[in-house]
Order: sequence, then structure tokens, then C-alpha cells
Amino acid sequence: MSAPYNRKNPFPARLLEVCPLTRSGSGKETLHLAISIKNSGLVYEPGDSLGIFPTNASDDVEDLLAASGLSGEEMLNFPEGETTSLRNILMRHVTLREPSKQLLSAILAKCPDAGDELAEFLDPEAKMVLADWIDGREVADILRAYPGAHFEAGELVGLLRKLQPRLYSIASSQRAFPEEIHLTVAVVRYDLHGKKRRGVCSTFLADRAGTETFPVFIHTAKHFRLPEDSGAPLIMVGPGTGVAPFRAFLQEREARKEPGKAWLFFGERNRASDFFYEEEMKRWLDNGVLHRLDTAFSRDQDHKIYVQDRMMENARELWKWLDEGGYFYVCGDAERMAKDVDAALRRIAVEEGGMSVEDAESWADDLKKSKRYRRDVY
Ligand SMILES: Cc1cc2nc3c(=O)[nH]c(=O)nc-3n(C[C@H](O)[C@H](O)[C@H](O)COP(=O)(O)OP(=O)(O)OC[C@H]3O[C@@H](n4cnc5c(N)ncnc54)[C@H](O)[C@@H]3O)c2cc1C
Ligand SMILES: NC(=O)c1ccc[n+]([C@@H]2O[C@H](COP(=O)([O-])OP(=O)(O)OC[C@H]3O[C@@H](n4cnc5c(N)ncnc54)[C@H](OP(=O)(O)O)[C@@H]3O)[C@@H](O)[C@H]2O)c1
Repeated sequence: MSAPYNRKNPFPARLLEVCPLTRSGSGKETLHLAISIKNSGLVYEPGDSLGIFPTNASDDVEDLLAASGLSGEEMLNFPEGETTSLRNILMRHVTLREPSKQLLSAILAKCPDAGDELAEFLDPEAKMVLADWIDGREVADILRAYPGAHFEAGELVGLLRKLQPRLYSIASSQRAFPEEIHLTVAVVRYDLHGKKRRGVCSTFLADRAGTETFPVFIHTAKHFRLPEDSGAPLIMVGPGTGVAPFRAFLQEREARKEPGKAWLFFGERNRASDFFYEEEMKRWLDNGVLHRLDTAFSRDQDHKIYVQDRMMENARELWKWLDEGGYFYVCGDAERMAKDVDAALRRIAVEEGGMSVEDAESWADDLKKSKRYRRDVY
């Protein structure tokens, strides 16, 4: 039997299906993907994520080669013990963005004319200036900005960061799809510093993976499992791609015929174009797998409505579910959404639980400690 597949020994997976979840007129591009893990022996639970090692876009590799004056045909020993071309290394092993401090120092050493500006960035006192300047720039942008700095192929590779795998919440239950993994992926494309930019992995999946295999592994998330008690009420807050693990939870509960009731808060920009998995959700409402579905379409009216507004509108009922031993789950944006949802939960404890603000703080902290408040945010 072959060694088990993991991050160090990833499985070569293949796309089975890619379909848009956003409809025409949407300002976003979010995709549903089905990936084959046939004959892999991979085992996953709802709540786990899939790690994917992407490759860079060939346009971006050619752009870096043009900016560096290298041909890409230079042969290098990389990784240790293997001989491969610079082009292949740039495709698969290093990131073409987030230029490292080492690269900037090397440019400064080679190109003293660039002195003042770069020296200012590299001054430890000016950390934020450096971070702001680097943000969103690619290595090719930096090399073009300092044409006097020439690097040999091996030297350049040594100054680039390693290309890291990306994680995606698994949106399927293995009980329902034994040989597949489903994902919900928001494709990252934007304009910055006068150039069209793309997220490496999301556009790899959307545009480049095609019929090729790509390396994947299961990233287990023991902190984000369904309740151990199959009868416990489930409250799930998953706007945007945050809905992914909750689709897995509902598939799992349906496959296991679990009795616990379930409530989903879903939010996106517009109902007409961004109601992900609408048909499935409606089917689960009809067959009783899902008991409540509250949606917050933020841009369907002139003021924003978010999932936490729907929580507040239903505060009494939500408090009742929690009081019955409900588990509270949050997935999606960490920067803003998860913080606002957390604040709404604490407010509900004050308004419906009759607690002081201080008591509500310790109540929410206790809910986390007792593992009835579970988050997977990014
Ligand atoms: C546990 C976990 C689960 C996750 N689950 C999901 C999931 O289910 N679905 C999903 O889609 N993602 C998910 N993510 C996020 C995912 O891992 C990637 O971070 C995401 O797909 C972007 O990767 P990328 O390689 O396409 O973009 P990258 O190449 O990593 O580029 C992203 C970077 O581009 C920059 N950027 C992006 N937009 C803009 C903009 N408008 N203006 C300026 N700069 C910008 C930012 O610096 C950002 O960090 C998850 C992350 C974690 C940690
Ligand atoms: N690290 C990365 O590279 C990367 C890449 C992709 C996604 N992400 C993260 O993943 C998140 C999910 O992206 P997504 O495309 O699935 O959806 P999203 O951007 O989170 O948007 C989903 C819905 O949430 C709303 N929203 C915005 N601010 C909110 C808040 N404070 N509270 C509650 N809801 C709020 C949005 O409304 P409006 O837009 O109308 O305000 C939209 O209706 C992103 O926000 C980002 O943080 C990270």
C-alpha cells in the first residue's frame, strides 16, 4: 500500500467540475468545484479544509523573466538533488509577489543609485513604509523599478519566498460523496498600481488547473467539528464563501439522519446573482434538515444589511436555541464580519439573557471554552 497522503506527500487530484455560483450581473466570481480524490485513501470530516499547491500563471512567470533579463532556460539544482529550469522553479516553487526584504537589500547592494529610497524602506524604523510600498507589488514590478540590478538565476531564486499552499473549507460530506471534495472559491482579481493582478490559487483553480493533476492534502480542523451530540441545535453564520463548511455539515446531518435542528445565516451582495446553493438550501428546508434560513443581501437596498442584523432581528429565538444547548458556528471573513458577529452575539446575551455587559463577556468566553462557540475564519 502507498504511503498515506499528507502535506509532505500530497495527492495528485483532478478537477471534476467547475460551475459558477454567482450569476450574470454579479460583481463577484465565486465558483463551486468538485475535485476527484478517487483511490487516494484520503479521509475528511465536515469542518476540515483542503490544502492546494497551485502553480503561478505563465504570463506572470514570463513577465518576471522579461523584467530580470533571464531566459528561463537556465538549469538549476532545485530543490536540492534535482536539476530543473528556472522557468519551472518560477512556475511551481516560489511566489512572484511579496518581494522579500532580502531581495530589496540585494538590489540596494547592486544598485547604489537607488540608495535613498530603498535605504529608507530598509530602515527598521520605517517598517510600515516598507510594508505599504511592498503591498500588492510583484517581484517583476520591483526589478523594473531598479533596472540597474542584475541577478544570476540561482541568486534570484535564493531571494524569492517559497510558494505556499492555500486552504479551502471543504463544502461536502464524505458520507454523501466518498470520492469527491467540493469547494466554494471566491476568485481574486483586481487592479493595482496600473496592472491587472490575480490571486495565485483561486485563479489557478478557475483558469489553469483544467484537466491537469495538482497536489492536495487534508488540513484537519478538530476545533470545527459538528457537535458530538447529534441532537444539539446548530446555529451557523456563514456569509460569502463562509457557507462552504455549513453545506458539508448539512450534507452530513442528512446522510446520518441526525435529529438536531439547524439554522443558517447566509449573506452576500445580491439575492438575484449571489444566493449560493439556493436550490439545495430550499430542499433542506423542505425536508427538515434545515429548520431556518435567514439571508442578508447587503446590496439589495440603499443601506447595508448583514448577517449580524438578521441575528439581532431574531435575537429572542436565537437566545432560545442557545439556551437549549445550541452550538454557535462562524465561518468566513475574519477581519470584519467575525468581529461584528461576535459583538452581536454578546449583545443578544445582554438584551435577551438579561446579563450585564461584563457577564455577557464571560458568558461568551465560557461558550468558547465549552466548545459550543466554534469559528473558522480567515
Ligand atoms: C482555513 C481557511 C479556509 C479558507 N476557506 C476558503 C474558502 O472556502 N473559499 C475561499 O474562496 N477562500 C478560502 N480561504 C482563503 C484562501 O485560502 C486564499 O487565501 C484565497 O483563495 C486567496 O488566495 P489566492 O492564492 O487566490 O490569492 P493570493 O495570491 O494569495 O492573493 C491574495 C492577496 O491579494 C491581495 N488582494 C486581494 N484582493 C485585493 C484587492 N481588491 N486590492 C488589493 N489587494 C488585494 C491581498 O493582499 C490578498 O492577501 C480560506 C483560508 C483559510 C485560512
Ligand atoms: N486572504 C485572502 O487572500 C482572501 C481572499 C479571498 C477572500 N478572503 C477573505 O474571505 C472573505 C470572504 O470573501 P467572500 O468573497 O466569500 O465574501 P465577503 O467579502 O465576506 O462578502 C460576503 C458578504 O458579507 C458582507 N459583509 C461585508 N462586511 C461585513 C461585516 N462587517 N459583517 C458582516 N457581513 C459583512 C458583504 O457585504 P458588502 O460587500 O456589500 O459590504 C457580503 O454581502 C473576504 O472578505 C476576505 O476577508 C481572503
